[in-house]
Amino acid sequence: MPHNIRRLLAACLSAAAVSAAATAAPLRDSASARGLFIGAAATMGPLRNEPIYVETLRREFNMVVAENAFKMDALRPSATTYNFTDADALMAFAEQNGMAVRGHTLVWHSQLPGWLTAGNFTRDQTIAIMRDHIRTVMGRYAGRIVHWDVVNEAVADGTGQLRTNSFWHQRIGPEYIALAFQFAREADPTAVLYYNDYEAEGLGQKSDAVFNLVSSLRGQGVPVDGVGWQMHKINPFRIQGQHVTNAQRLASLGVEISITEMDVRIALPTDATELQQQALAFGDAVRFCLEQPNCTSLTTWGFTDKYSWVPSVFGGFGDALIYNASYQPKPAYTALQSVLEEGSPQPPLPPTGLTATAGSGQVALAWAAPSGAASYNVKRSTTSGGPYATVASVTGTSFTNTGLTNGTTYFFVVSAVNGAGESMNSTQVNATPQASGFTLQANPASVSVSRGGSATSTIGIVRTSFTSSVTLSASGLPAGVTAAFNPSPTTGNSSVLTLTASATATLGPATVTVTGTGGGLTRTTPIALTVTAPPGGNVTVTRAVTSNSPWFTEEQVRITNTVSLTALSVTIVVQRTTGVSASGQYNTVGGQIQQGNTSTASTITYQFALAPGQTLGTGTNRTFAAQMGGTGTVHPTSGDTWTVTYTAAGGQPVTQSGTF
Ligand code: XIL
Repeated sequence: MPHNIRRLLAACLSAAAVSAAATAAPLRDSASARGLFIGAAATMGPLRNEPIYVETLRREFNMVVAENAFKMDALRPSATTYNFTDADALMAFAEQNGMAVRGHTLVWHSQLPGWLTAGNFTRDQTIAIMRDHIRTVMGRYAGRIVHWDVVNEAVADGTGQLRTNSFWHQRIGPEYIALAFQFAREADPTAVLYYNDYEAEGLGQKSDAVFNLVSSLRGQGVPVDGVGWQMHKINPFRIQGQHVTNAQRLASLGVEISITEMDVRIALPTDATELQQQALAFGDAVRFCLEQPNCTSLTTWGFTDKYSWVPSVFGGFGDALIYNASYQPKPAYTALQSVLEEGSPQPPLPPTGLTATAGSGQVALAWAAPSGAASYNVKRSTTSGGPYATVASVTGTSFTNTGLTNGTTYFFVVSAVNGAGESMNSTQVNATPQASGFTLQANPASVSVSRGGSATSTIGIVRTSFTSSVTLSASGLPAGVTAAFNPSPTTGNSSVLTLTASATATLGPATVTVTGTGGGLTRTTPIALTVTAPPGGNVTVTRAVTSNSPWFTEEQVRITNTVSLTALSVTIVVQRTTGVSASGQYNTVGGQIQQGNTSTASTITYQFALAPGQTLGTGTNRTFAAQMGGTGTVHPTSGDTWTVTYTAAGGQPVTQSGTF
């Protein structure tokens, strides 16, 4: 079982309360009280040498992660040695200050030691190295690291596939991910095991790929407990409905989430407006994590703009964190503090669960209230994705937009508003108003009935603001086919149509039209019907044996057909036992049947066939006979067989066979 998070947070709270005297309300106090880890990435230079860095970090955060000290290149100077100097120092700092630790990261394609990437290791050797690394590092700190980023950034950008040029993928194959999580669970069963990635926070190809990866791993029993959203963003950024939707689908897999590396970079030089925008991003994120039941931590990637990876990696950008380079709190810090303390209001998150129901000339909308919302702006467009125009501002969580054009598709979003501002838009929904009335839909729209049988299709009555009863009827039925509706008339939304074919119903395809009438309207829907001949249903075949010993034995096939046949072939095969010879054959149909026999050393085959282009009318007990003369054993013998293949007019060939 992963850590007892509540106990850990309680420890964070008491340790923080002791150290908090200097500042009114450090973030960690209110976060701990609300069950949230608030963390920052720490870098070793200032952690060792800069008192204000150390003081701020321990005062404000109840969680810490090493920006680089737990990465493989830092821990593994050679294949056979480990250097835990920095990692141990960070652990000691965290434990002295009652801070939880995130471990970052065990298996990543970046920041790998040169001896590993240049080492020409085989697959088995690479697996052994990975296992040893996970066991040694996790084992050393077992029980002391609350979250571990076991695998980092395994999904590629822009493909929805795994990152196939990763060292681990190339040497081990895609199984490296499952192996890493299994080794990790063995090494420290108390840690919450995370898959961590960037640009997979909202909805899109990459977050779908992360979701599918985690879903499939968990389906195979691989222990993935959490998904980390790095959240390296560009100002302005706001939490949107898609973030809530993604968090909810991950929750449905049973995994927790964390915001693991948040920063919001600003194109330099920064101005006051941009700092206010940046504050909304951090305020949204912490509000999101507090309100999303499976979000357990929010960590920023550094905390002071003095030490941030941003300027060196993203040219022209900076100021991405919550303290400035002089350790002064920025508006982003105040936003975190306000949301955590429920102090001065921050804008709400977007509404969730928006639905749209079309009526005649109108669409009814409903949504769920995010906390802290005072009112809502309902916005509409006839183009997916906007631009949207605000059509109403309401205080309740539903709204019916009237005066719309039937047949036009409308796209809606809703934002939430309070005194501090407006949220981002919710996820978009759409609906197409329809004129009052009804339409019919047959399901299935194509049915097959064999003579003597029946088949059904459900007729859906799709109503738009229409409550009258609808009476159903069917036309275009082939002769011998009848239709019944249950129920009809109906005020409901469906009726079951049963089509029944008599034994002599007309064979072949037909189009049946279902008509509904009611409230002054008439609507139709077609059903493609095919009537088929059932196997054997209209043709009876019997066999008989007569004998006039010792002169001959006769094996007969007798055919009774109640429908005319357009093809018929009868074959009788007789075993040639000792002394038997073919003495002849006959049929009672007459000249349109062609007949003959062929002999081999072991069998005699008698063949009767309706001449091409001929039709055989109905008849009873037409006889096709094979006669054997000679002194041999009396027939039938085992192995004497008959086969009849016939085609009823308009139907498919049917074969029946048996033995004498
Ligand atoms: C970055 C560090 O911040 C830099 O100091 C280092 O040079 C490169 O790595 N995603 C991650 C982090 O998971 O480990 C990265 O950290 C930033 C992107």
